Amino acid sequence: MYTTEIGTDLARAKQLLEEGELVAIPTETVYGLAGNGLNSKAIAKIYAAKNRPQFNPLILHVANLSQLQQWVESIPDACRLLMNAFSPGPITYLLPKSSTVPDLVTAGSNRVAIRIPSHPLTLQLLNSLNFPIAAPSANPSGYVSPVTSKHVLDGLNGLIPYIIDGGSCNIGLESTIVGFELNKVIVHRLGGLSIENIQRISGVEVELRLSHASLTAPGQLKSHYATKKPLIVGDINKNLLLYKDKKIGLLTFSSSYKINGCIEHILSPGGNIEEAASHLFNAMRLLDYSDVEVILAEVFPAEGLGKAINDRLARASYPLKY
Ligand code: TXA
Ligand code: MG
Repeated sequence: MYTTEIGTDLARAKQLLEEGELVAIPTETVYGLAGNGLNSKAIAKIYAAKNRPQFNPLILHVANLSQLQQWVESIPDACRLLMNAFSPGPITYLLPKSSTVPDLVTAGSNRVAIRIPSHPLTLQLLNSLNFPIAAPSANPSGYVSPVTSKHVLDGLNGLIPYIIDGGSCNIGLESTIVGFELNKVIVHRLGGLSIENIQRISGVEVELRLSHASLTAPGQLKSHYATKKPLIVGDINKNLLLYKDKKIGLLTFSSSYKINGCIEHILSPGGNIEEAASHLFNAMRLLDYSDVEVILAEVFPAEGLGKAINDRLARASYPLKY
């Protein structure tokens, strides 16, 4: 057991990582649970702290493009366009791995997932290291991803020595994961960068091939990002009738249902989908921590980040727990 501390001491974080210890790091998407990506003991600690299945590979995080190039065999043209437009930012590239990337990181796959996060503290930390960081989201496997240092503490207290406090994650959804085929971008996970943006910049066909839909990729189990309280997505007026005997929590996009006795979280009263995305995981946790018995969520507009919000809600609600 550790005494888990929270702070902004980057020298301490660097030293811990160099010693093979784990440090939670802020990113623009969600907090990550970081370890030295070249150190098999540190990687094993990540799987253990999260209670994560060993077949679910990890994303490597680097400070810039020249570092990124060290860990991949090649970069397709469409990928370069996306990198120039969106990295640092909420996008992860699946690329042929160089032989120097440990198999433990990729769970044996010949492709590595790699990204440049855009949080200033984490970029400063990555710039000071001479190895890439392997980091999944800093939550126990299967639970909602953390978007504040307190969320990390709630899930990993005593399991890691240090959490870098970088405030609330401003995107609030995990990165979008993309792979490449001849003249095609394949989106494997919806996330903080919209498909519309990827389409606009890549200039090639963009195909949605969500890994959890087929279960061909490791770790993309459907029940994920899940609250402990049952979460039901769909028409709220209808579901309010179905669950009228329960204490209810509501997750809505921009409007209020004005129901007495419900705890309601309106994710963006002004109707801005990016703002709604940035509030989603915190609202899910607040409802989960409250005394509500069931969480009812709206279906969000399926545009921009709304698609990723709907994906997370669907996966949080599967399988139905009632
Ligand atoms: O925004 C993010 O991506 C955050 C922050 C911390 O960077 N990280 C994150 O990591 O969400 P994680 O481990 O919770 O989700 C990464 C996903 C997993 O579903 C994993 O299966 C997939 O990426 N993945 C990682 N490496 C892969 C690989 N080599 N091939 C296929 N899928 C991979
Ligand atoms: Mg995760």
